[in-house]
Amino acid sequence: MKRILILCFLAAAVLSACSPSKEQGQKTKVWNVASIQVDGHPQNEAVKKMGEIFGQLTNGRYRFEVFPNELLGPQRETLEQVQYGIIEMAIMGNPNVSSFEDGFLTFEMPFLFDDEAHQRRFFTTSPLVEKLFARTEKYNFKIVTYFTAGTRNMYAKKPIRNLADLKGMKIRTAESDTYAKMMKALGGAATPMSFGEVFTAIQSGVVDGAENNEASYSSTKHYEIAPYYSYTRHLIVPDYLIMNKKLYDSLSAQDKQALAEAARQAADYEVELWQKDAQERLAQVKEGGATIVYDVDSKALQKAVVPLHEELTQNPEIKEVYDAVKATSELK
Ligand code: GCU
Repeated sequence: MKRILILCFLAAAVLSACSPSKEQGQKTKVWNVASIQVDGHPQNEAVKKMGEIFGQLTNGRYRFEVFPNELLGPQRETLEQVQYGIIEMAIMGNPNVSSFEDGFLTFEMPFLFDDEAHQRRFFTTSPLVEKLFARTEKYNFKIVTYFTAGTRNMYAKKPIRNLADLKGMKIRTAESDTYAKMMKALGGAATPMSFGEVFTAIQSGVVDGAENNEASYSSTKHYEIAPYYSYTRHLIVPDYLIMNKKLYDSLSAQDKQALAEAARQAADYEVELWQKDAQERLAQVKEGGATIVYDVDSKALQKAVVPLHEELTQNPEIKEVYDAVKATSELK
């Protein structure tokens, strides 16, 4: 079914890729962007805004088309589509990028950033970011910008307030060895699977719960089957907007500059939208019957993952990024 969808989409893309823009009397190139998120999600909104800005800065020579809801497949598949130039762009979770470059594994370390502001400070000010991003180019994809994906919290059919509550629980995580190690350190067990599979896995009891930000907890309706959302705040892990490297290389210097400016504004916009969206999502899930658990012993969870930090920072590529992250912390 997915293949058929993609084939139909490709046929349509070929037909629409170069539609003449009436105002300018010139060709408008359409860049297709894959997203697993629902319509109205801050990341999709930010990408739409980026498309508008890029379009304006290039006199309407480019237009973005966002395909939400995993319409073009799970993230791993859309990353391949970007690499092969089947689609131009995709919004990508960190584990798909860290499977190519170890430095990105750093962001999967639990309790790495002090808070979301720290993450933002790191991605907007650290001189390492650009160098780190450039390392994926040899795999034929370029990171255009980071996006915040908020803070991830655990949810299940019961509250999770401490390590004892987590003991023996099977929690769905995204596909990453680091997350498996994290769950083990916290006394539970990770069951990795892609985003679209989680609802059924919770419903059928394959897993006891999962972990995600407010937007995903709400938009997937996981709160209907795992109604306790506990503020464990264990991960603040970014997403990225990636694009085909050859396509990027084919742009003129001026268009590259326009794209960078549009991406910068989109990233700011997304952060701006995120907080408000998270509050609205929380209100929605509460209305839907969810209980929000704030009194979590985060300190105990944090302590339990110290050996994991020590283990991971043995890897020099992780250590380099880890030190750069810590250099942007405002905590003493
Ligand atoms: C969030 C995040 C995605 C990630 C997803 C998941 O939605 O933004 O990048 O893939 O969670 O847990 O799979």
